[in-house]
Amino acid sequence: MTPRRCRRILLTGFMGSGKSAVGREVARSLGWDFLDFDDAIREEAGAPIDTIFREHGEEHFRRLEKRVGKRLLRRERTVLASGGGWPAQPGHMDSLPEGTFSIWLDVSAEEAVRRVRDERREEPDSPVRPLLDLEDPLPEARRLLAARRPFYASAELILDAAAGAPSILAAEIVRTLKARSLL
Ligand code: S3P
Repeated sequence: MTPRRCRRILLTGFMGSGKSAVGREVARSLGWDFLDFDDAIREEAGAPIDTIFREHGEEHFRRLEKRVGKRLLRRERTVLASGGGWPAQPGHMDSLPEGTFSIWLDVSAEEAVRRVRDERREEPDSPVRPLLDLEDPLPEARRLLAARRPFYASAELILDAAAGAPSILAAEIVRTLKARSLL
C-alpha cells in the first residue's frame, strides 16, 4: 500500500505542553509554515483570548476556535498548534482532513500548571489562560486533563512533553514521520 503522505502536522495537548515551541521547531526543520490556532483567533477577533472569554464567554470562544481550526486545517506544508481545548470539542479529532498527522504532547497537570505559572512570571506579556486563572489552578487542571485525555489519546503519535527540550521533541517527530515514510 502506498503510504499516506503527511501534508500538515497538528500538535495537540494540554495548556503548557509546549505545542507552539515544539511546533515552531518542527516547522523550521521541515521548512514549513507554523501557525497557532490562538494567534489566528486573536487576529480574527481583534482581542486577546482572555478578553474574548471574559466579554463573550467560553461558548463564543469555542465557536471562533472551531471556525479558525477548520480554516487552518486546510493548509498544506504547515505545522499547526491547536489550543488545549480544541481536541476535546465534539467531532474535532475524528474528522481531521486527510493528510493530517496528529500528535499529543502529554504533560501532567502538575507540570502544566508549573509551566503556565513560570511563563507568566518570566514573560508578563504571555497569554493569560482564563481556565487556569485561579488562585489554586491545580484541581481544575486535573479535572480538565482527565476529561480531555481520551480525546488527546486518539492522536497518531504520543510524546512525553517532559522528555526533552522542544528541539529534542521536534527531532523525534521528524524522525518518526520519516520512519513511517510519511514525508
Ligand atoms: C484553552 C487553551 C488555550 C486557549 C484557551 C483555552 C483550553 O490554548 O485556547 O485559553 O481550553 O485548554 P493553549 O493550550 O495554547 O494554552
